[in-house]
Amino acid sequence: MSIDHNLTAAIGASAEDRAGSYAVMHVLAATVIVALFSYIFTQRRGRKKVSQKSQESCVHMPRTLLTSLVTPRQLETAIAEQHNCKPVIPFVPYKWPLALDLLKRQYYILFSDNTFERLTPFFDLAGTCRIHLFGNTGYFTTDPENIEAILYTRFDDYGLGSRRLAFFSLLGEGIFGQDGPAWKRSRELIRHQFVRVQKQIPEAFTPLVDELVSGIAEAAVDEQVDLKPLMYQFTLATTTMLLFGEPHSSMAKEERDAVRDNFDYAAFGCGIRVRLADVAWLYNPAKYRNACRANDFGEEAAAEKYAFIIDFFHLVRNPVILERLLEEIASVPTGGDITRDQIQRLPFLRCWLNETLRLYPTLPLNLRSANKPTVLPRGGGSDGRSPVLLPKGAGITHSVYHLHRLESIYGPDSRVYRPQRWEDGELIRKARLGAGYVDFNAGPRLCLGKDFALMEASYAIVRVLQAYPSIRLALGTPN
Ligand code: HEM
Repeated sequence: MSIDHNLTAAIGASAEDRAGSYAVMHVLAATVIVALFSYIFTQRRGRKKVSQKSQESCVHMPRTLLTSLVTPRQLETAIAEQHNCKPVIPFVPYKWPLALDLLKRQYYILFSDNTFERLTPFFDLAGTCRIHLFGNTGYFTTDPENIEAILYTRFDDYGLGSRRLAFFSLLGEGIFGQDGPAWKRSRELIRHQFVRVQKQIPEAFTPLVDELVSGIAEAAVDEQVDLKPLMYQFTLATTTMLLFGEPHSSMAKEERDAVRDNFDYAAFGCGIRVRLADVAWLYNPAKYRNACRANDFGEEAAAEKYAFIIDFFHLVRNPVILERLLEEIASVPTGGDITRDQIQRLPFLRCWLNETLRLYPTLPLNLRSANKPTVLPRGGGSDGRSPVLLPKGAGITHSVYHLHRLESIYGPDSRVYRPQRWEDGELIRKARLGAGYVDFNAGPRLCLGKDFALMEASYAIVRVLQAYPSIRLALGTPN
């Protein structure tokens, strides 16, 4: 069996190859306009943006202050004193006015083949770091304690910020772009749908996994097959089954390919827009608009993209891991439905899934914005161990990609693909502490499709390995 080398890349950085030089021009032109616009905009908004409304809602404010009239600056100072906050010292160095060289660098990275790896120098600077752009200060972190505060313990202090604007054309008015009461309502509705579906899986996957298994044999030429399109079709079918009650198998191949290409292009456009933050609307070319429109699945397509594309590449390039998995699944009967119970008795399979999601997280970078002055537990002062005050409106990016590769949690071989590291159960306990492993996010926005995705992936891998136990990397494929 041959495995398309791009399978791995599709998980992390699928859209890079869509880069064209016209897009670079677009971005650079936009950059200059953005810079001028943002500078004026931020200067004007600057100091007077936090109203008394935020003073009422701020949970960290000393009670005596609640009743008095204080300026936003006084409010922040009071909170900082109360929590013994210190400023974040490390910052990303820049040379050009308004740090435009950093924006330029980011765009080159976005257009490169290994986006997340190239961001490593930024995230290696410190656990929590400042970045200045257009006269604004943003933050990024890989500190598990801070990520826990953002996603979980101080969840209410954060919103999606500019992400909503960046993704709106693609995702529309759905849960992925919502905050506050609208998000709560959507979550409740979707949760009910998932509870209903949960009772039917994994058995409901059987006809679709049958199609996948027979599709592999049909697509093989000289015993070699490109698994990527088959996996894509499988995840599309399972997701549409979940959403509409039946798989979208009526779609012709050309249509499916068009959905995929449009979605990839739209996601790439969103990548540019998210970097433009509050002025994301400046990047809105016709090709991007059309790609978003053509995705009449909107949010459903996003969920599909999220869905687990099984990383067979890692499996077939590691014969030892493949052998272990084959031994384990030998206990599962062939030729019929596979049950939840049977899947749950396959501990090494779960280790393999954990390791894939650790090194290739589906959402490698995540962004939040403080909707009131709030406190990060760590990152301040010369040793980076003091709390930090985040003013209202401050953006903070956490990199799941780099968090999941921290040596402090995963050891000196943290960058090596080694499912065995999860085997004794110790690591999962350690990593979950302080949000050091956030495969499906954490806290109130925990992925609603977690069970669905894990069952889908497990079912597919077991059946494919049962049908093709001697699966291996095609000769000539770089390992
Ligand atoms: C390996 C597969 C998947 C991974 C790793 C994953 C991961 C995530 C992550 C990290 C988030 C949080 C996003 C944020 O910060 O706002 C999320 C949210 C979500 N996911 Fe997944 N997901 C997967 C598959 C799925 C599938 C298959 C579905 C449904 C078909 C799904 C439905 C959702 C929904 C509805 C949310 C929004 C939750 C909310 O905002 O309250 N996910 N997922």
